[in-house]
Amino acid sequence: MSGTAPGGPDFSAVDTPIGVVDLERARANARRVSDYAASHGLAWRPHIKTHKSTRMARLQLEAGARGLTVATLHEAEVMATVTDDLLLAYPQVSEPRVARLAELLAETKVDVRVAIDSVVALDGLHEAARRGGRDVGALVELDVGLRRVGLPDVDGVVELARRVAATEGVRFDGLMFYAGHIRGGGAEADAAMLVLAGRLERVVSELAAAGLEPELVSGGTTPTVWRSHELPHVTEIRSGTCIFNDRDQLACGSAAPEHLAYSVLATVVSTALEGRAAVDAGSKALAKEERGGSGYGILLDRPEVGVVALSEEHGMLDLSGTDWRPAIGERVRIVPNHVCVSVNLQPDLVVVDGDRIERWPLEGRGR
Ligand SMILES: Cc1ncc(COP(=O)(O)O)c(C=O)c1O
Repeated sequence: MSGTAPGGPDFSAVDTPIGVVDLERARANARRVSDYAASHGLAWRPHIKTHKSTRMARLQLEAGARGLTVATLHEAEVMATVTDDLLLAYPQVSEPRVARLAELLAETKVDVRVAIDSVVALDGLHEAARRGGRDVGALVELDVGLRRVGLPDVDGVVELARRVAATEGVRFDGLMFYAGHIRGGGAEADAAMLVLAGRLERVVSELAAAGLEPELVSGGTTPTVWRSHELPHVTEIRSGTCIFNDRDQLACGSAAPEHLAYSVLATVVSTALEGRAAVDAGSKALAKEERGGSGYGILLDRPEVGVVALSEEHGMLDLSGTDWRPAIGERVRIVPNHVCVSVNLQPDLVVVDGDRIERWPLEGRGR
């Protein structure tokens, strides 16, 4: 069995399937985004949902990240050990979360901000601040077209911002939006960026007219990361996927093959079917995220070979576009469509740094 790609790391002692990170590429990706942000006067507050690892978060902070963005309270608690500046980009409603947020405030010195789009979420922040004994920051979230969370109209944002400013224990720190519906380049994306720019102009000017000029305007996605400077008033970007990238980012042009820092190491387990090879990475390692009938991933070193079918423990490689015929036992590295969900499925990460192979824990893993 071959565990070594020519000139690559020796994976022969590593059992599969398992997520593998090329540390040099991850470092370079972090530097690239951080340098881009700095060159446009933007702060970078990466969303750590992509890697869920304190060591990877440290790497981002060392590259110049201002703080970190998280989605869950578990991620917040874990990342509070490596930064004193957290944005919880998810409304915290219901008692168990209020209690946990209060505990985070009481037991750490971390500056915590939370994105909200309702009075219920604001009340939760007020209560967490009261129990936690110190202020919490609020960013009012505007929906800019994804239609997920966020207030859909500017008047609603101004009204909620007014309420925040009048709420004891809660600071109005600014505005948050997530333009996950814009996928990078092309005329459609250009038009969507213009619409978004217009909405930001309007909401910021209405907030200013109400005496509530936002100190922070938090935006940024990976598909649009290199266009963040086109949007007015934005002060920080939360782009997170860009630390590893994936097939989606190749497809929308935000990343090139040399920016792919994550893959799932898998072993060929069967070549019984003509034109296909079965590997041991199925939906429980890659995540079943199909994109318009184009399969679930591609090989890192042979992008012409795609994963065309998945069951839980099997991935089927389509060999119709290649002369390569893998041997049973051969190792392959698969770039999934969506890296964040694949990482969350791993027990830990195999991190390759030159010839060295380490295991990094995924302390923030989970829902
Ligand atoms: C609220 C929020 N901010 C930032 C991000 C990071 O965006 P990306 O994954 O495109 O880097 C996400 C991703 O899902 C998100 O949901």
